[in-house]
Amino acid sequence: MEVQLFTPYPKQLEVFNAVESLEYFYVVCIAGRQSGKTLTAQNLAIKFCLESKGKRVMWISPTDNQAQKVYKEILAGFPPIKGRKNPAIRDKRGAKGDTEIIFRTGSQILFRSSGSEDTLRGNKIHFIILDEAAKMKRETVEEIIRPTQKAIANPKMLIISTPKGKNWLYDYYQRGFDTKNYPRYKSFHYTCYDIPMANADFVEQARQDLTEIAFRQEYLAEFVDGASVFKNVYDCCTQPELKAPEPDDRYYAGVDVGLLTDATVLTILNGAGNLVKYYKWEKKESADIIDAIVDLNRVWSFKKILFETNNHGLPMYQDLKKK
Ligand SMILES: Nc1ncnc2c1ncn2[C@@H]1O[C@H](COP(=O)(O)OP(=O)(O)O)[C@@H](O)[C@H]1O
Ligand SMILES: [Mg+2]
Repeated sequence: MEVQLFTPYPKQLEVFNAVESLEYFYVVCIAGRQSGKTLTAQNLAIKFCLESKGKRVMWISPTDNQAQKVYKEILAGFPPIKGRKNPAIRDKRGAKGDTEIIFRTGSQILFRSSGSEDTLRGNKIHFIILDEAAKMKRETVEEIIRPTQKAIANPKMLIISTPKGKNWLYDYYQRGFDTKNYPRYKSFHYTCYDIPMANADFVEQARQDLTEIAFRQEYLAEFVDGASVFKNVYDCCTQPELKAPEPDDRYYAGVDVGLLTDATVLTILNGAGNLVKYYKWEKKESADIIDAIVDLNRVWSFKKILFETNNHGLPMYQDLKKK
């Protein structure tokens, strides 16, 4: 039996290959609306099921209706032949919360909603797909969905989404570029301009009609922070990061303290006023942060350190000054 899958565009093919490679367990694909994310994931799920025996894929969408839509779309790809059920499909179930397609290989796709947590539990899954992951909660992903992953040699999780502010998905996306700490993660990003099927006039109209933030999020797939004051931070980031101080320059540090929910950040400006490096500490005790700043000061010999003294800042400032 032969099954014809879709013909991927180059960007889609990269994602496809990363999921199929033995190197990566977690693949994150961030792209704009209508850029073929769902179609790519559907084809991966089908191929996985047809090429394996008795394995389980769990497709998770933010709502039951979205999961059902994907179920119907995949089934539509396997229509009856000459009045008889398509030979690739052994069985199917369309009930909400218990939706699945079983292929003739015995491998199956379960379709679930991240909102119905009880329907996610208890499964042992080889390949998990999160569609529109930005709309899911970090707790659901980490405390309920990830524990369903079977601890096999080559576990797979594909996370696809348009961004929705800078939430947990942003962290996962970053991991895909951090080959040292997260070698099993791979991330991809593309915009509506990278996809041949996008209608240029339609996109241009959206650019004119939507707020800048909405256009950048929905079409350029940027992790925009709707609440932030600064809208063009990335455009301004043109300076390469310095690994170590340069002998002829002068350096100034600024420390923004955040201990409980926020990070403490130390930024370093050079003599020309450019940001050349920053350090970020999360969930660290204030004594450790002070030690770290003292160490950095030895390396960079700051001309001046500006230190935020409100809230927890003041006692830290006093300790640091003593040291
Ligand atoms: N490689 C492709 N070839 C043909 N049509 C495609 C391809 N990729 C996506 N499409 C079509 O583009 C539309 C948007 O795709 P979809 O997967 O729903 O996008 P997204 O999930 O990113 O919003 C769908 O109609 C889909 O069938
Ligand atoms: Mg989609």
